[in-house]
Amino acid sequence: MPDLLHEIHIAPSILSADFSRLGDDVEAVLNAGARVIHVDVMDGHFVPNITIGPLIVTALQPLVHGAGALIDVHLMIEHPERYVEAFAGAGANVITVHQEACVHLHRVLMQIREAGAAAGVALNPATPIETLAEVREHCDLVEIMSVNPGFGGQRFIETSLDKIERARAFLPDSVALELDGGVTALNAGALVAAGANLLVAGSSVFGGQDIGEQYAALAQAAGEAV
Ligand code: DX5
Ligand code: ZN
Repeated sequence: MPDLLHEIHIAPSILSADFSRLGDDVEAVLNAGARVIHVDVMDGHFVPNITIGPLIVTALQPLVHGAGALIDVHLMIEHPERYVEAFAGAGANVITVHQEACVHLHRVLMQIREAGAAAGVALNPATPIETLAEVREHCDLVEIMSVNPGFGGQRFIETSLDKIERARAFLPDSVALELDGGVTALNAGALVAAGANLLVAGSSVFGGQDIGEQYAALAQAAGEAV
């Protein structure tokens, strides 16, 4: 399963799904080929919005793992160390914390691995990649935010393309590189060419009429592994 993290994949963000029929929407992307399901957790403090807790991960876990897919949890919360075990216990395969939210980032990365999940660090658009110099060997994944976190459907910040290239050169090959925010079928190819291998996509997957078709267009543009 962890090998999925090193392949090219679109990771649909359920933030833009229809929450009144969340299982159906997740099933639709799994049927279309999705193998990484991105879960955006927001606390109303680190970011202005409030979204999802471990209960939703528990509820989706049989469906997602039953399809051989990973649950990729993006914690946009203060004090994420308080919730690592809860999300790992709920079925998270990847737990990503924000560099900006962790005073003791090294300790939190160790804690995530100890809990049995892959350890990720997310960087806000204003945070330089070089801030990970002392922990890059302890990351399984780095997530570059190409929007300011908090909401789906925002516009891609163009300087993120150059940041991906610099991140790919700066990080060990073993570290997966995820890009989050404003991904569309028009920019997916360039993002992969720059070095990202996981592209989070919310509104461009769940925002249209046909989830399967939207997913397929993105997967094709990214050159997703099949
Ligand atoms: C933003 C979230 C993203 C978001 C992406 O704070 O972390 O994962 O769902 O949504 P789109 O693809 O619509 O920019
Ligand atoms: Zn996210």
